[in-house]
Amino acid sequence: MSKQAKFDRLAELREQSKLGGGPDRIKKQHESGKLTARERLEILLDKGSFEETGAFVQHRSKDFGLDKQQYPGDGVVTGFGKIDGRPVYVYSQDFTVLGGSLSETHAEKICKVMDLALKNGVPVIGLNDSGGARIQEGVVSLGGYAEVFWRNSMASGVIPQLSAVMGPCAGGAVYSPAITDFIFMVQDTSFMFVTGPNVVKTVTHEEVSSEDLGGASAHSTKSGVCHFTSDNDAECLMQLRRLYAYLPLNCEEKAPRSAGTDPDKSKADALDFIIPDNPNKPYDIKDVINGIIDAGSFMEVHEHYADNIVVGFARLDGRSVGIVANQPLSLAGCLDINASIKGARFVRFCDAFNIPLVVFEDVPGFLPGTDQEWGGIIKHGAKLLYAFCEATVPKVTVITRKAYGGAYDVMNSKHIRADYNVAWPTAEIAVMGTKGAVEIIFRREIGKSEDPAARQAELEASYEETFANPYRAAAHGYVDDVIYPRETRQKLIRVLEVIQHKADTVPRKKHDNLPL
Ligand code: HXC
Repeated sequence: MSKQAKFDRLAELREQSKLGGGPDRIKKQHESGKLTARERLEILLDKGSFEETGAFVQHRSKDFGLDKQQYPGDGVVTGFGKIDGRPVYVYSQDFTVLGGSLSETHAEKICKVMDLALKNGVPVIGLNDSGGARIQEGVVSLGGYAEVFWRNSMASGVIPQLSAVMGPCAGGAVYSPAITDFIFMVQDTSFMFVTGPNVVKTVTHEEVSSEDLGGASAHSTKSGVCHFTSDNDAECLMQLRRLYAYLPLNCEEKAPRSAGTDPDKSKADALDFIIPDNPNKPYDIKDVINGIIDAGSFMEVHEHYADNIVVGFARLDGRSVGIVANQPLSLAGCLDINASIKGARFVRFCDAFNIPLVVFEDVPGFLPGTDQEWGGIIKHGAKLLYAFCEATVPKVTVITRKAYGGAYDVMNSKHIRADYNVAWPTAEIAVMGTKGAVEIIFRREIGKSEDPAARQAELEASYEETFANPYRAAAHGYVDDVIYPRETRQKLIRVLEVIQHKADTVPRKKHDNLPL
């Protein structure tokens, strides 16, 4: 064969590989509102930066006629590229090839990029669009999944792992995204479930569509499995790019810093007026956050799940920070099971990847009720407490209003080694709210009084004078300062600079035993 013929053969094979399952299936993919595996990578990665590996890989199966269905690349496009000039390993499942199903070799390709990513300290982004284990390959395919799960587990906390579910992700296949750090889903075209609608109907007699059972809405509002949703593929991929900018490449590095911007002026100017005079009136903690951080920098995580706690990434003078904030607009900001789990997972991610934690606290306590107690608020609330306790990243807290009871301790208090805690003059820091406290400690005295209502009011005023302010805590050094809301941004920027090289450790151990 001449050299030219050899070159031509390469060109032909490359072309064939690029076509995946062929023009008809690509058309079908587009008709179902989805981009192809390669089109997705073009949007995700910086223009022209993608280097493919394994384009000529073929499956080894001969059963059920598979030997006659060979597609170079075997249903997954793998390699590396850049996002905003920073390296990333990627894999993108190709639904046009045998439904993106995972064969032995398909799994090997994913494992190869994961091994390289881990060895080189570079994050992995997986774009999932697959009918699951390749049924014709049987246990070999299941083994392939397990190899991926094992690598997901080993890489956890070493490199960020991001998953976008952009089509089906069913059965055990869901457990790869589940182990990764963040899951993105697309409305109407993606779904995740352990058992599909047919099995559900057979076992529990419930009739439910794929979308209702495991679509983006179900997982972003009900289960909390999904962290980010978008209306279409392109938007999802742009969200992935946005998140990437807040993250370091691995656990040894710091997140990149960008040029700082001023906060939203109208929000910043409103800070001193946000807290209502009536302590039972709610306000939007996101107005507080947006009045303090660099304008437009808040990327909320789990926006539609457990909205009594708000978590997300932001920038303070260009520095990437993780925000955790109670939301008085929802359940008065009480901590419940879902909020505790949501908060704990986010705190642990930030701690694993050297992202400082900034906490805004307005919490009347844990949510009461049999649902909560029987659902295990004790063990789930403990997760959030544990997460803050073990976190060794820079940790700062701003108490805007209520800091009551155990929740005061949990929300990054000084006692669990926060570095800098401040309170606004509107803060109320006590074991419990005025009414409840007075009823408990002065019940007898009020009962004996000639005018119980007047005595109760008197005692409530005295309790408020003593505790419904930040000065008792400040006198003990439990808050480092009491500040005007308008001063918050500048003080946070200054302290984050001075504590940026914090070196703290936890005792040597095999691993912790976080209450699960
Ligand atoms: C082999 C598969 C496949 C699979 C789909 N295909 N899933 N081939 N193994 N798992 C093939 C189809 O035969 C079809 O080929 C092509 O992909 C497109 O599939 P369609 O069914 O035409 O597409 P659509 O109507 O969009 O439906 C997509 C789907 C459906 C919902 C994903 O294909 C489906 O239900 N597939 C099976 C899902 C599943 O039960 N997987 C196993 C889960 S358990 P042709 O040539 O006809 O076009 C699992 C265990 C994981 O994965 C292991 C972890 C421990």
